This record gives sequence, C-alpha cells and structure tokens, in this order.
Amino acid sequence: MEITAPRGVRDILPGETEKWRFVEGVAYNLAKRYNYREIIIPIFEHTELFSRGIGEATDIVSKEMYTFEDRGGRSLTLRPEATASIVRAYLEHHFEQKPQPQKFYFFGPMFRYERPQAGRYRQFWQIDFEALGSPDPLLDVEVIALAWDLMFSLGIKNLEIQINSIGCPKCKEGYKIALKEYLADKLNLLCEDCQRRYETNVLRILDCKRESCRSIVEGAPKITDYLCADCKNHFEEVKEGLDLLSLPYILNPYLVRGLDYYTRTTFEIISYKLGAQNALCGGGRYDLLAFEIGGSMVPGVGFAAGLERIVMVLEEEGLLQDTEKGIDIFIVSIGEEAKKQAFKLLHILRREGISADMDYTNKNLKAQMKIANQKKAAKVLIIGEDELSVGMVKIRDMDSGKQEEVSLSDVLSYLRRWKK
Ligand code: HAM
Repeated sequence: MEITAPRGVRDILPGETEKWRFVEGVAYNLAKRYNYREIIIPIFEHTELFSRGIGEATDIVSKEMYTFEDRGGRSLTLRPEATASIVRAYLEHHFEQKPQPQKFYFFGPMFRYERPQAGRYRQFWQIDFEALGSPDPLLDVEVIALAWDLMFSLGIKNLEIQINSIGCPKCKEGYKIALKEYLADKLNLLCEDCQRRYETNVLRILDCKRESCRSIVEGAPKITDYLCADCKNHFEEVKEGLDLLSLPYILNPYLVRGLDYYTRTTFEIISYKLGAQNALCGGGRYDLLAFEIGGSMVPGVGFAAGLERIVMVLEEEGLLQDTEKGIDIFIVSIGEEAKKQAFKLLHILRREGISADMDYTNKNLKAQMKIANQKKAAKVLIIGEDELSVGMVKIRDMDSGKQEEVSLSDVLSYLRRWKK
C-alpha cells in the first residue's frame, strides 16, 4: 500500500520552504518594527476554548474542527486559528498587569476540515498579529496598516482593503431582527446551510459563498445603519485614521467574517489574482472574546494572513525568483586520498560559516560537476590526486568559469577574503 499525505495536507518541499521562510522573515521584521512580540502557542487546546471563543454556530466549530479525546478522556482540538489561544495565554499569564496594549506575533500551522481546493487546505499556515488591552480605534488602524504593510513589503499589488463595522451585541440584535425580516419571504431561495443559519445565527448568511445566497444578500439591510452611537463613533474614527495614513479601503457592509467573536471593526485584504479563495488576510476587533472564554473584559484587535495564498500570489507575480539560493562551495574530489582531504576541508569550511557540500556517491569528475551545478554552488573546489601531490587545489568560479590554483594551506584565507 502506498501511503500518501492525508487529503488537504501538503508537504512543503525544499525549494518551497525557502519561499515560506522569505515570507516569514518579512513578517517577523515587520513585527519588530511595529513592536509585536513573538508568542508560540500550543498546537492543541481544550475544545471548549474554540467552541466558546469562535462560536458553536460557526462553520469552523460545527463542522471543521479536528477534535479528539486524549487518553485521559479530555476533549482536545487541533487549533483552527490563533486568536482564541493568544487571548487564553494573555489571561493565563496575567498580561493585563503589564502596560497596555500588549502586542503579539505568531506564525504556525492551523487545522480545519474544509473541502480542499486551490488556496484552501486542511493544514495551512497563518501569520497572526494581535493587539490586546485597548479599545482605541487607532489600534484598529495600526493593525490594518500592518496588514497592508505586510503585503506592500512583499511587493504584492492589485489588492483591496475591505472594511466594515458589525457593532456590539446591542447593535447586532437590532440588525438581526431587520435581516430576519428581510429574509423571511426568501427562505426557500437560500441554500440548506443558510436555511439552518436563519435559525441558529442569521449573520452567518452574509458570509455564505454560494452565488444564489450572495445575490439575495446584496439587497439586505446594512449593519452599519444599525450601529449605536458609540460603535458609530468608533467606526468613524477608524475611517478617519485610515484616511490620515492614506490607506485605500472600500466599505463592505456585508463583511461579517466567519468567526463569531468579532465586534465593531472587521476587515479583509482581497487579491484580484486569487480565485474563489481570494482573502489574503482577515481580522478585526473582538472586545468580548476574553470575557466569553471566562476571563475579564480585554478588548483586542488583530488579523491573520494565509501563507499558502500569499505564496501563490507571489509566485504568480514573479516576486520569488531569488529565494532559492545555492551553496557557497561544492568540493569535487577524485580518488580515495583526495576524498578524505575534501571531507576534512568540508568540515573546516562549514565551521567557518561557509555553506559547503561534497559528493558521497563516488561519482566521476563530470558527474560531480553536474551536481555542483544543480546545487547552484558559487564556487567549486577541485581536489584531484595530481593536485594533491603538489599540495594545490583548483577553485572554479561557476559564474565566470574562471579557474585558479590555490595551495591547500591558503584555501581558507582565500575563501574568507571572498566571503567578506
Ligand atoms: P480567517 O479569516 O479564518 O481568520 O483566516 C485568516 C486567513 O487565513 C484567511 O484570510 C486565509 O488567507 C487563511 N486561511 C483560512 N482558512 C484557510 C484554509 N483552509 N486554507 C488556506 N488558508 C486559509 C482567522 O483565522 C482569525 N483568527 C483572524 C484574526 C486574528 N482575527 C483577529 N485576529
């Protein structure tokens, strides 16, 4: 039987991992610039954290979680997202006692039992930023600016920021009544899921991706018309802040997002280069999440960006050409004694901080040169029996094709000078 990776789960192979690390590096540097500090959260948590935090009636909790019982009979779940865990960690480690807001950066895989398609996987990677401990609308703007800066720093164009405010529970209640009234005589036109959502969580209908439901949603009342004075003010200040930084955005009054913890601001950055799964990142404010998972009231705002989708766009726009770097040196040797010398030199070079490799399959000179080429070596060091007998090695520059003879005892200082 041939065992493959489970459906929707991918290997990130050498050649791709460089792209992953490139994106992660850009995000990590941005985290430093914006003063978000790295946190590493567990891969699994108590199921309750997500069911209470994300919401029982969401697709994530009701049908996409990888939940299992451990040997102690506890219900655990592979994390489908990072926000609930970061809020849990904030509460558990008393970050409320430190100066507010506290800002966190996280990078790692998430797990959702979704139907796999281009840009949608069952294990996927997120870059996540969260700012906890302040309701200030300028913090919402900072988070949106950070998301935009991430895309800008990666060189991604053709993007759109969509924003909305879904208010507080008070605003949502009024809006839900209006939405239900609007949908009441159109129920039979909605998909089966949305007919269920009408009863369990009517706001989720706005999030349905089916064309038939979307066309009905287009005529629905707008939540921004139902905001209370405080939420309205908050949203105005977010928009003013975005204008202050000249960040381009469009208002999407139906952007509710797929997680129940949002209050007030929601946003997404959409790429025109992606198909159905076009959200590169999404986030918003979640002022009640900490309370809902059993803690005190801690306002928060953040976003997560999907690595696979970012890499897809970068590839499509040809922005990743330089990520696959070769090694500095490949040592080619001919004969037993030369191989031993090559092996010793290899060890010395590596300890000097020079990336180097050699052949371990006793290939002939031509075949070893081919490997050096495949490994994109900048220089090849050739140690043959003749060269060795006079204490010399050849160093060939693979770009120019120029070759020099250097005495074995000078190789290290020669390469040190070259590496400088
Ligand atoms: P989300 O919209 O569920 O939000 O996910 C954020 C991003 O993760 C999406 O925009 C997308 O790029 C990527 N993503 C989601 N699901 C998949 C999948 N199955 N395959 C590939 N990529 C995927 C959250 O997770 C929230 N925790 C974001 C947040 C942070 N809100 C506040 N703070």
